[in-house]
Amino acid sequence: MRTSLLSLAACALAFASCGALADNGPLVIKFAHVVADNTPKGQGALMFKQLVEERLPGEVRVEVYPNSSLYGDADELEALRNNDVQMLAPSLAKFEQYTKQLQVFDLPFLFDDLEAVNRFQKRAKGRQLLRSMEKHNIVGLAYWHNGMKQLSATRALQVPSDAAGLTFRIQPSAVLDAQFSQLGATPLKLPFKEVFGALQSGKVQGAENPWSNIYSQKLHSVQPYITETNHGVLDYMLVSNSRFWYAIPHQIRTELEGIIDEVTYAVNRQAEEANQADRRRIESAGTSTVITLTAEQREAWRAAMRPVWQQFEADIGADVMSAAQTVNRKKRD
Ligand code: SIN
Repeated sequence: MRTSLLSLAACALAFASCGALADNGPLVIKFAHVVADNTPKGQGALMFKQLVEERLPGEVRVEVYPNSSLYGDADELEALRNNDVQMLAPSLAKFEQYTKQLQVFDLPFLFDDLEAVNRFQKRAKGRQLLRSMEKHNIVGLAYWHNGMKQLSATRALQVPSDAAGLTFRIQPSAVLDAQFSQLGATPLKLPFKEVFGALQSGKVQGAENPWSNIYSQKLHSVQPYITETNHGVLDYMLVSNSRFWYAIPHQIRTELEGIIDEVTYAVNRQAEEANQADRRRIESAGTSTVITLTAEQREAWRAAMRPVWQQFEADIGADVMSAAQTVNRKKRD
């Protein structure tokens, strides 16, 4: 109770309406996201809620809104900046209007695997990017993994020219737009909740997603071919409204930060296995042919997409680019 009163006072001083803090009630954190509960992010959000309510009973309450049920891609970041929602974990491709530096994560074939992504996120440059949107009232609290992306389509994508002429759904990212244009395909930006319908109706013929999003959205049921390209990463930044976050009394915020560390560790440790399990489920469903590439075939996809890097180097920054290129184990150009 004492902390609740302190919270109330601190929030009132620092921020006119500290989240959904009710007069005498707990601090309410609304956590919205666009994916299903049975995904790495969905599980992370639920674990955060559970730990917060176990460790800060009566002081903080977490409400989780999955599947774009509160806000979706089009409005969630604006809602966060307005403090209508207090926590989100958008994919890194969705921050483009607030910082160009995070475009580094969308560059195709920059990171060899999720372990390389993990190393980059833990190093100084990666950690600095968590603070790259503070002037827009967005604070990054952690990186959460989903997984490496695979290409899916209505026809078999074996070599890069197979993608030419198809329309692919993309996230709102100039890098991803350039990546598909580079292949002679047409990129179309669509919110995540519209992906299944757009594939089913034929509005788009292809997409790029990690296995967990393909499986949980049933995209395999409308994509007869999935090529295991692992050509890019789909990860998240757990974010809050900066003014809201820093107005939380120190003792509570420290507890929340400890919980976030714990949840981040669990999400990031399990994400790869969750994706591999969903890959197996997709294969068992028998709706799609999963195409694996030889090293030479994968190299051809890399060569076809690699020119995109130059176009974004200036915006991302040479320092960020070169830090990202040191995290792969294999030496490359
Ligand atoms: C998500 O995993 O949050 C959705 C990513 C997408 O829009 O493809």
